[in-house]
Amino acid sequence: MPEPWPWLTLGAITLLGTLVTLGLVRWMILRPLARTVDWIRRLRAGERTDPVILPKGDLFAPLAHEVSRLAHYWLAARAAAEEEARLRHAGESRWTPERLKEQARSVLQGRALLVVANREPYLHQRQGRQLQCVVPASGLVTAIEPILRACGGTWVAHGSGEADRETADAQGRLRVPPDEPAYTLRRVWLTPEEEGGYYYGFSNEGLWPLCHIAHTRPIFRADDWTHYAAVNQRFADAALDEIAETRDPYLLIQDYHFALLPRLIKEKRPDARIALFWHIPWPNPEAFGICPWARELLHGMLGADLLGFHTQFHCNNFLETVDRTLECRIDHELFAINRAGHTAWVKPFPISVAWDAEAPAADPAKTLGRKAAALAQLGVSAEWLGVGVDRVDYTKGIAERFRAIERFFEKYPARHGTFTFLQLGAPSRTLIKRYHDLGQELEAEADRINRRFQTRAWKPIVFQHRHHSHHDILPCYRAADVCLVTSLHDGMNLVAKEFVAARADERGVLVLSQFAGASRDLPDALLVNPYDLDQVAEAIHYALTMDPAEQRERMVRMRTAVQERNVYRWAAELLTALSRLRTGPEPAPVPVEGRG
Ligand code: G6P
Repeated sequence: MPEPWPWLTLGAITLLGTLVTLGLVRWMILRPLARTVDWIRRLRAGERTDPVILPKGDLFAPLAHEVSRLAHYWLAARAAAEEEARLRHAGESRWTPERLKEQARSVLQGRALLVVANREPYLHQRQGRQLQCVVPASGLVTAIEPILRACGGTWVAHGSGEADRETADAQGRLRVPPDEPAYTLRRVWLTPEEEGGYYYGFSNEGLWPLCHIAHTRPIFRADDWTHYAAVNQRFADAALDEIAETRDPYLLIQDYHFALLPRLIKEKRPDARIALFWHIPWPNPEAFGICPWARELLHGMLGADLLGFHTQFHCNNFLETVDRTLECRIDHELFAINRAGHTAWVKPFPISVAWDAEAPAADPAKTLGRKAAALAQLGVSAEWLGVGVDRVDYTKGIAERFRAIERFFEKYPARHGTFTFLQLGAPSRTLIKRYHDLGQELEAEADRINRRFQTRAWKPIVFQHRHHSHHDILPCYRAADVCLVTSLHDGMNLVAKEFVAARADERGVLVLSQFAGASRDLPDALLVNPYDLDQVAEAIHYALTMDPAEQRERMVRMRTAVQERNVYRWAAELLTALSRLRTGPEPAPVPVEGRG
């Protein structure tokens, strides 16, 4: 019998060889493959982006190369997709002039865009021998101008500057803005009598106080109404002239000066798509009902296809007013009013300001320097600066604001000498007695309060009663610790949004009237009742002592709101809504056989 050991030895060697081979396969093949699988899995999950490491040598070199290349392409594709998604997301919430231009192009499809607004965006005055071009103080101009800059078109307005005729052609046309012409301004000339009756009279002594609940009684004169109706016809003629050569034009009519215009144009040009945007509040039916020409005004407005207000509340008031005043069919669910076969849709479009997407984030450290410079320029020494920017108008609550500042100093004597409030007040509608008197009243009120508290180096209120350009106003917004917007009633109030837009340093506190439309969009402001002087005084105190982190948090949220709902978006939504409306007669119901 042969010895068993050679077989045993052979078996042992074979086993050893197998174990070694298995070990080698595991070490050199399975482990790297498992590592590679794990690497691919983690790469897919987005956990790693480093290159795959495979053992060196001929066996894995081609695989490592291919896997690495594949991973490289995959990572690049994913990064591109992420970037695209980010841009798409940002694009959806950010409206720019370019995006509005694109949207307007796709909505208008080559049709004309016509804006009718009483106030012109540029008026010419004489200063000595020089001609001066001025941008008037008007929330409406602030909002509409960027749209025409972006989309082009024509703005029909009252030529109210003393040198306006010299700077326009025979038809009253000129290209603006003067330094970068982008659209046409068509000026309509009015006689002093027409301007007196239509603008000063019916619009600003009648409709303005009627729609603003600010306890100034509206005045209605039959002569003013006659001028109002005649001037609406004059503007209708100018608008019809401008759109004579174009089919299906788009008209954006602005404000309470032109309640009759939609009907006058629609009757002549049923193909025109017409929106009327009402920039001021719409009161409740009882308040509006005192106007002797309420029916005529509503009938004129309902010639539009789309009626826009700043807030849902104003839309509700309007619907109710129509319901109580005119014979018509109202769809309360769709907010549509059908009168004599024509439907007008009522919708809120909260207006806003332009947003400078290019503006770099500002350094809060520089704000202190700005404030010091502003205070030095005012000739006062103080620790804190407040700002208010308004047309001198009784609806803005400027007198109430001054008295709230007085109350603040009564309540907090320790703050004497530390806080100065700068009020920039643009004279407005001064031929109306109420406005003329208000300017004087405010000057007297500021003097009275200053006399009570001022020292040699400091005073509580600096009232600059004159026109300020946007260029002058911006540094004041940027330097202020607090901005006071205390309107007694306001459609929107764009000063509130301008202040927020100006604060790239994410500092500053906004004290805002709860009766301004802006309070709906900016709940992070300190909301106050402007009639409650103690509350406004407390808000000033709270603003000046607010923790910087809270200040920043509120400002960041307000900035996001204004950035996302800027005026480009307002215009795009208005135009888009107008383009989607079904105009013309209502379709007949589907007939059922056998029914008469
Ligand atoms: C408000 C009105 C605008 C008007 C502006 C300035 O914002 O809604 O229509 O343009 O005040 O008033 P003014 O009478 O000077 O145009």
